[in-house]
Amino acid sequence: MHTTSPFRVLFVCLGNICRSPAAEIIFQSCVSEAGLSHLIQTDSCGTASYHTNSKPDPRMLAALNRAGFTYTGHRARSFSQADFSRFDLILPQDTNNAADLLNIARTSSEKAKVRGIWHYFPTSEVEEGVPDPYYGDSSSFDYVVSLLQRSMPALLADICHRINIDRK
Ligand code: 4NP
Repeated sequence: MHTTSPFRVLFVCLGNICRSPAAEIIFQSCVSEAGLSHLIQTDSCGTASYHTNSKPDPRMLAALNRAGFTYTGHRARSFSQADFSRFDLILPQDTNNAADLLNIARTSSEKAKVRGIWHYFPTSEVEEGVPDPYYGDSSSFDYVVSLLQRSMPALLADICHRINIDRK
């Protein structure tokens, strides 16, 4: 048996215009392909608020487009304390994002929801987190998409395990 209320996943980066919206779009596509959209809900946000209400960075959207993903209408928002209770799993994209989240977590159960997305990277990757592409070129954005794509199967498998879904 799995739980009836959806499992809620929050992707977090700094500005919520590059990495975390990309992670959400790519993960949603993975969830949808697995036929699990009714069981897993997603959102994304940033630890900073300076891009609030912005659309994702056009360079990120172009890279997503090159990989076959479509923008779903996200607008940037910043992380709020209430997100600790709204979400079951909170996935910072890099170690700075993780440190910021752990700094504002008030309880051990809030801290326990924070798990760096790098835990799901393929073992061949040496990165400590998803590298910030903001000051990079198009290849930096393509690399973010590729790294995230290759990490989603492990993330989905972990969530299925957590909610007791046997996908075999
Ligand atoms: P993100 O990328 O955290 O992946 O959305 C960035 C977006 C904006 C800035 C830095 C990183 N910025 O400095 O404005």
